[in-house]
Amino acid sequence: MLRFSTAGESHGKALVSIIEGLPAGLKISTEYINEQMQRRQQGYGRGGRMKIETDQVKILSGVRAGITTGSPIALAIENRDWPNWEQIMAVEAIPATGDKTVKRPRPGHADYPGAVKYNHADMRNVLERASARETASRVAVGAFFRKFLEYFDIHIYSQVISVGSVQVVPESVDQQGLADFRSRVEESALRCSDKSKEKEMIDFIDQARLAGESVGGSFEVGVLGIPPGLGTYTHWEGRLDARLSALLMSIPAIKAVEIGDGINNARTPGSKVHDELRYQAGKGVYRLSNHAGGIEGGMSNGEAIIARAYMKPIPTLYKPLVSVDTDQWVEQKADVERSDICAVPAAGVVGEAMMAYGIAAAFHEKIGGDFMEQIKSNYDCYLDYVEKVWKWARI
Ligand SMILES: Cc1cc2nc3c(=O)[nH]c(=O)nc-3n(C[C@H](O)[C@H](O)[C@H](O)COP(=O)(O)O)c2cc1C
Repeated sequence: MLRFSTAGESHGKALVSIIEGLPAGLKISTEYINEQMQRRQQGYGRGGRMKIETDQVKILSGVRAGITTGSPIALAIENRDWPNWEQIMAVEAIPATGDKTVKRPRPGHADYPGAVKYNHADMRNVLERASARETASRVAVGAFFRKFLEYFDIHIYSQVISVGSVQVVPESVDQQGLADFRSRVEESALRCSDKSKEKEMIDFIDQARLAGESVGGSFEVGVLGIPPGLGTYTHWEGRLDARLSALLMSIPAIKAVEIGDGINNARTPGSKVHDELRYQAGKGVYRLSNHAGGIEGGMSNGEAIIARAYMKPIPTLYKPLVSVDTDQWVEQKADVERSDICAVPAAGVVGEAMMAYGIAAAFHEKIGGDFMEQIKSNYDCYLDYVEKVWKWARI
């Protein structure tokens, strides 16, 4: 079973994570992981923090000479800002929190419910962990799952499809066009493939910044090269759509997830929603559309898996909303922390990492094996079955 966990505070010494169950024999390098983490740090609308940090991973265990051993993998990412917070975040001494104490919870953040739940008079104890800084760990961990999937020619991409009220029609992506699509998205400050809309998105964010506002939006994550049969309809918790939605929903500020054209499908007649099966001798079974987002009955159906996630506006506002001073018990403006105005592009990169985990876990459950060559041989056997017996036309 593939699983991972993370620990660490936003201004603590380091973020750490552990991956368990990853097979032996997977080639990975710190450069590859760092590249993925740098993608998370980009994007128009990020705050000052991203200028301080250039995340670098340290692999502490589970990898020898650039190859996984099958043992638990431990990772650490130092927080570059730690020296400025050493006193405030000290583990041993009683922290001299001073003006970094948080007593006026930000609406939309974890501050108030977290303080109530754990009885923290200083809500810094809540926000340090609730902060999306934790998603740096997820991207580092996700790099392993991504690399695992690449070995089997399964590829993940993302694209921003809205920033505030500026919407883009998502570009349809296939294996042939993937490299070109990726290079355009990676060059875009908004991770958006539509150049003409990018300027509008930038203007939208600039205006929000001037108004002391924050911005949300949405992104699409796609997975190419998945065979039919991952996940199951036989028990509720095994349904692939449910699993992937939960993973995307676990990203801070994501408040809605759709699989394929889920939202539009709800208002469209069935004949225009369901993707007809076609067959051609020599080609096999294929579809002309993919409104289902590659999942039917909780299982991959052999089409690209497509999910979209919707992010609320960042809760920290430089023109803060009304809150309550929990020392004085009077209404006051909420506290302000250094913050992003818009983090939709970064959230898309985190979405890729969570998707990589979900797909790798379902793939490994289905195909099995403890080392890469063994999994490859099992997989080849499965592909042979799917193609010969069920005529799957690989896309
Ligand atoms: C990549 C990323 C960056 C974020 N940056 C900030 C930020 O700078 N300031 C902030 O208040 N919230 C930020 N958020 C959102 C908060 O972490 C999130 O809204 C908060 O933890 C409350 O959780 P919830 O929105 O899921 O209820 C970010 C989220 C993501 C995914």
